[in-house]
Amino acid sequence: MRIAVLKESTPGESRVSAVPEAVKKLVGLGHSVVVQTGAGAAASYPDDLYRAAGAEIATDGGIGGADLITKVRRPSDSEIGAMKPGAGFASLLEPYGDKSAIEKLAKAKVDAIAMEFIPRISRAQSMDALSSQANLAGYRAVIEAAELYGRAFPMMMTAAGTIAAAKVFVMGVGVAGLQAIATARRLGAVVSATDVRPATKEQVASLGAKFVAVEDEEFKQAETASGYAKPMSAQYQAKQAMLITEHIAKQDIVITTALIPGRPAPTLVTEAQARSMRPGSVIVDLAVAQGGNCPLSKPDELVEIAGIKIMGFTNLPARLPADASSLYARNLLALLPLLTDKNSKAFAPAWDDEIIKGALVTKAGAVVHPQLAPASAA
Ligand code: NAI
Repeated sequence: MRIAVLKESTPGESRVSAVPEAVKKLVGLGHSVVVQTGAGAAASYPDDLYRAAGAEIATDGGIGGADLITKVRRPSDSEIGAMKPGAGFASLLEPYGDKSAIEKLAKAKVDAIAMEFIPRISRAQSMDALSSQANLAGYRAVIEAAELYGRAFPMMMTAAGTIAAAKVFVMGVGVAGLQAIATARRLGAVVSATDVRPATKEQVASLGAKFVAVEDEEFKQAETASGYAKPMSAQYQAKQAMLITEHIAKQDIVITTALIPGRPAPTLVTEAQARSMRPGSVIVDLAVAQGGNCPLSKPDELVEIAGIKIMGFTNLPARLPADASSLYARNLLALLPLLTDKNSKAFAPAWDDEIIKGALVTKAGAVVHPQLAPASAA
C-alpha cells in the first residue's frame, strides 16, 4: 500500500510519525512511503535521510493517493478533505477532546485509529503509544524540574560543606510517574510517591522510593479492570489531602502526573499546599492539558508564586522529539500487520481483531467506537 507521513501542524509539535529507520522497514515490507517535505526536520530527521531510506518526498505528503495516512496528532480539516474515501488514518486523535475532528473523519469515509485506544493487553504492548510517550514525558519532567530548581539533586559532600539531596514527590504512579521516580533516583534525589491504585505501592518500593497514601477500603478498590484509576470520593480526597499536606510542605520538587481517562485531572496540590513549600521549590504539572493537578498551573507557562515555580507542560514528549518519534514510529510499525493484507500488502484492517476493534473510531462513514458513538449506534 501507499503510506503518507504528514508533517505535524499542531503548534509546538516537533514529533513525526515515521523516522527514516521505520521508512526503511516499510519499504522492505513492500510498501511505498511518501513523506511530506520537512516532516521530520524538527525531530532532527531531514528529508535526505528519508530519501536514503527509500521514501518519496512531496510537499503535500502524497495524501490524496495514500491508502494509509499517519500522523502524531489530529489531522487538520484540509488534510481530512484531501484523504480518499476508504483510506486508513492513525494518530493520537485525542478521542475525548472536541468530537468534530472524529466526525469529519467519519464523513470523509476514512477508517481512523485512535492510538490512545489501543487496548492495554500484552499482545499490544509494542503498539502502546500512550506508554511510549508517557515514559519519555516522565523522564523529561524530572530534567525540566532539575533545570528550574536552583539547587542540586544529589547530596554532595564537598570541602566547602555538604549539600542536602533534593526531596522529590511524584503524584500519580502510572507510566510517566514510574519513569519520573526512576530518573529522580538516578539523579540522587530522595524520592517519595503517591497513587490511588494499590498495585503502585510495590512498584514504588521496587524503585527505591517511599510510598505515601491513605490505604483504606476505597483505595483497595481504586483500580478498574483495564488498570486505570477510578475517580475517588470526596471523603477519600479529603483524607488524601490531609496526609499529603504535611508531606508536600517538606518537598523541594513535586511532579504530578495523575489522570483519569476521559475526565478532568484530579486536584492534588491546592494553592495552600503549593504555598507551604519553601521558596525555590518547583512543581511540574504533567496533567495541565486535562485541567491540571494543581489549580495554579497554566499550560506551557511558568507561574511564580512566593518564590515557588509552577510549570505545566502540555507536551513533554515533544521536548525529546527524536526519541519520541522513533518510539511512536515503532508503535505504528507494530500495528501495521493488523492493517495489512498479508499477501497483497493492501490496506485491509483485521476488523475482528480485539486491538483493531478497541482502537478503531470511524469506519465506512460512521463513528463506531462505543465510547464516542451516539447512544443509539453504540
Ligand atoms: P494515567 O496516565 O491514566 O494516570 C496516571 C496515574 O495517575 C495512574 O497511575 C493513576 O492511578 C493515577 N491517579 C489517578 N487519580 C489519582 C489520585 N486522585 N491520586 C493519585 N494518583 C492518581 O495512567 P497510565 O500511565 O496510562 O497507566 C495506567 C495503568 O495502565 C497502569 O496500571 C499501568 O501500569 C497500566 N499499563 C498497562 C499496560 C499493558 O498492560 N500493556 C501498558 C501501559 C500501562
